[in-house]
Amino acid sequence: MEDMSDDLAGEWAETQLSPLAEPAERDDESTLRPRDLHEFVGQPRVREQLQLVLQGATRRGAPPDHVLLSGPPGLGKTSLAMIIAAELGRPIRITSGPALERAGDLAAMLSNLAEGEVMFIDEIHRIARPAEEMLYLAMEDFRVDVVVGKGPGATSIPLEIAPFTLVGATTRSGTLTGPLRDRFGFTAHMEFYTPEELEQVLRRSARILGIELRDDGAAEIASRSRGTPRIANRLLRRVRDYAEVRADGRVDLAVAQAALAVYDVDDLGLDRLDRAVLSALVRSFGGGPVGVATLAVAVGEEPTTVEEVCEPYLVRAGMLARTPRGRVATALAWSHLGLTAPADAPGWTAPTLFDE
Ligand SMILES: Nc1ncnc2c1ncn2[C@@H]1O[C@H](COP(=O)(O)OP(=O)(O)OP(=O)(O)O)[C@@H](O)[C@H]1O
Ligand SMILES: [Mg+2]
Repeated sequence: MEDMSDDLAGEWAETQLSPLAEPAERDDESTLRPRDLHEFVGQPRVREQLQLVLQGATRRGAPPDHVLLSGPPGLGKTSLAMIIAAELGRPIRITSGPALERAGDLAAMLSNLAEGEVMFIDEIHRIARPAEEMLYLAMEDFRVDVVVGKGPGATSIPLEIAPFTLVGATTRSGTLTGPLRDRFGFTAHMEFYTPEELEQVLRRSARILGIELRDDGAAEIASRSRGTPRIANRLLRRVRDYAEVRADGRVDLAVAQAALAVYDVDDLGLDRLDRAVLSALVRSFGGGPVGVATLAVAVGEEPTTVEEVCEPYLVRAGMLARTPRGRVATALAWSHLGLTAPADAPGWTAPTLFDE
């Protein structure tokens, strides 16, 4: 049985399973980042679509359409943005929605772009309104209106900018305004990775990091990585630590299992926060429906953490359903907690994690 601690605040910081990058991880991430589309594992549909967009543009000798990359954290959006620039043989200018607080910051960046360069705006759903409006014109007409002066004497000066490609990334495409979404010629919807794809990611990372990784060890880590390459790479590093300290350095099934038990990662890749969310849903709210804000309070987390970090995987794993009336535990959630589901719990016939 689960033991629900009353205070789970801050728990997320200790877990190995957050799909968000930790600051100390950035260096490792850049070492492990795929450099071109060929090295980019998985996402076959996105890869094919993107290849066509890029090749089409190259043939025409014009910058490709603006690209929106949408999907949960850690699936490779930043990697793909850099790959797009690399495939085009162009520099990439990187910024983020929260950094573009004033339209002037964006105008400065845009006017410094050279023809065909790639501008990457991470977390584009968090861009401030004035900057967003400036972006409309920039994306459509390669022009910005710079406002000079204040009050009645203010004038707006149109400024030409070089044709460029905007790549936006978002974990919440639903919160993007219609006009912004419509200005992207191509939207790539990133999907969670299959265990087989994650094994490929792991084998590649192990090669780069010089880790001896057996196939059964790779399979074990992959199956607990929540469909997310960032998590797979992180678990690989944790398992390597264990292998070096407590074993002979080689990562096989037994070492992976022992190491992941130490880090509290269960066999479905759920950690304490996920189990706490399910447990609260089932035990405190009779399986739901319950609103996400209430659920978040029950586990002592921010609603956005529960919504953006826990839920996508719980939904994907078939344990939680989002309904108009709130979140509902599926029969699989009850049984994962060792409980019998009530007759009206939504069922989940195929408990496979990654069926399309
Ligand atoms: N398709 C892939 N093939 C190989 N490695 C990958 C792939 N996708 C992601 N990775 C690995 O996962 C790490 C995280 O990827 P990335 O930073 O691109 O994710 P992201 O979607 O931008 O995440 P966030 O939403 O947090 O910005 C990368 O450092 C890379 O090592
Ligand atoms: Mg990113």
